[in-house]
Amino acid sequence: MNEPIPLFDLNFGTEEEQAVIATLRSKWISSGPNVAELERRFADFIGVPHAVALTNCTAALHLALAGVGIGPGAEVIVPSYTFVATVNAIRYVGATPVFADIVGPSDLCLDVRDVARKITERTRALLPMHFGGWSCDMLALTALAKEHRLSIVEDAAHAPGVFEQGRMLGAWGDVGCFSFFSNKNLTCGEGGMAVCHDDEIAARMRLMRSHGMTSLSYERAQGHATKYDVLELGYNYRMDDIRASLALVQLEKLTDDRAARARVAQQYREAFFDMRGLTVPFSERSGSSSHYIFPIVLVEGGAVRRDAVRAQLRDAGIQTSVHYPAVHRFAIYEPYTTALPQTEFVADHLITLPMYGKMTSGHVSRVVGELQKALVGSSTVA
Ligand SMILES: Cc1ncc(COP(=O)(O)O)c(C=O)c1O
Repeated sequence: MNEPIPLFDLNFGTEEEQAVIATLRSKWISSGPNVAELERRFADFIGVPHAVALTNCTAALHLALAGVGIGPGAEVIVPSYTFVATVNAIRYVGATPVFADIVGPSDLCLDVRDVARKITERTRALLPMHFGGWSCDMLALTALAKEHRLSIVEDAAHAPGVFEQGRMLGAWGDVGCFSFFSNKNLTCGEGGMAVCHDDEIAARMRLMRSHGMTSLSYERAQGHATKYDVLELGYNYRMDDIRASLALVQLEKLTDDRAARARVAQQYREAFFDMRGLTVPFSERSGSSSHYIFPIVLVEGGAVRRDAVRAQLRDAGIQTSVHYPAVHRFAIYEPYTTALPQTEFVADHLITLPMYGKMTSGHVSRVVGELQKALVGSSTVA
């Protein structure tokens, strides 16, 4: 039996171990100097004045929506083809998610024409998600937002370090939200970041991440503050210094890791170029990506055949996944269901293949070969 090929692999080395040990030895493990340093470096990296480190991207999405003033009665247009957290965050602030479709199998990002159709007098924000690290059509979405006076919160969980037309993803909207969850390109186990241009939005997010309190315990321990007031009903969404020290090392590695992923993606694309029976999303794009995941979409057969293909790959030692089941099909989102034909087709036909920077060309060839066998073997299941 060949060695198993996982869906993703951590890009950790001794640098991460040393960084964590140094933080433990410093004896300040909650939010402190590492968090402040990570915020400075991440803001510089994205090219924005403010970065607010948080417990995860879900918290970032929550505070971003609260920060731009979204609340009960507001509608927010969002893809159903995303991780459920993107949509849950809209509910946290009491607003209503309105689902828009994706373009289709060749482009898994929001269809701007459908977004335009879904705008009503109650719409207050757009929440695009940059699928797999590929940009939504930000020029068109920004124009639409301007015309209708809407805020934009970008879900850039998949997309750290992606330049799109001279601007980093996450820096296009009012707030950009990133995830440092364990399978992300930049990880510290659990973590997130909200970035923005506006001083007031940043101040509000900072306040709300720590119970609405006017000072942090690190500031008080340093003698920079002696007391605090509570100005708003906030949360405990603080990142700790152990995670921040890990994330600082990962940030340094991000650009090289992306280049390694791009090579893996290129090998997949060349191998799939003339393979029948599947579409490689985004293969017609000239822009760049974080290459967070490598999805393919089968052209036919529905979820039954897709699951049979995945089972065959699993039996060959290859881990796959489905990014994502459509959110509007989950029980709690039934009341928000609307016609989303492209989302439903892709949700039933997509397979996420293994992708990580250290994948060898031998690994990629094995995935491609096993996939080809599985496609031929399952072509009559439909
Ligand atoms: C598109 C998207 N949005 C939001 C999230 C939530 O991120 P976190 O796990 O950091 O809360 C994820 C995490 O997987 C995601 O993929």
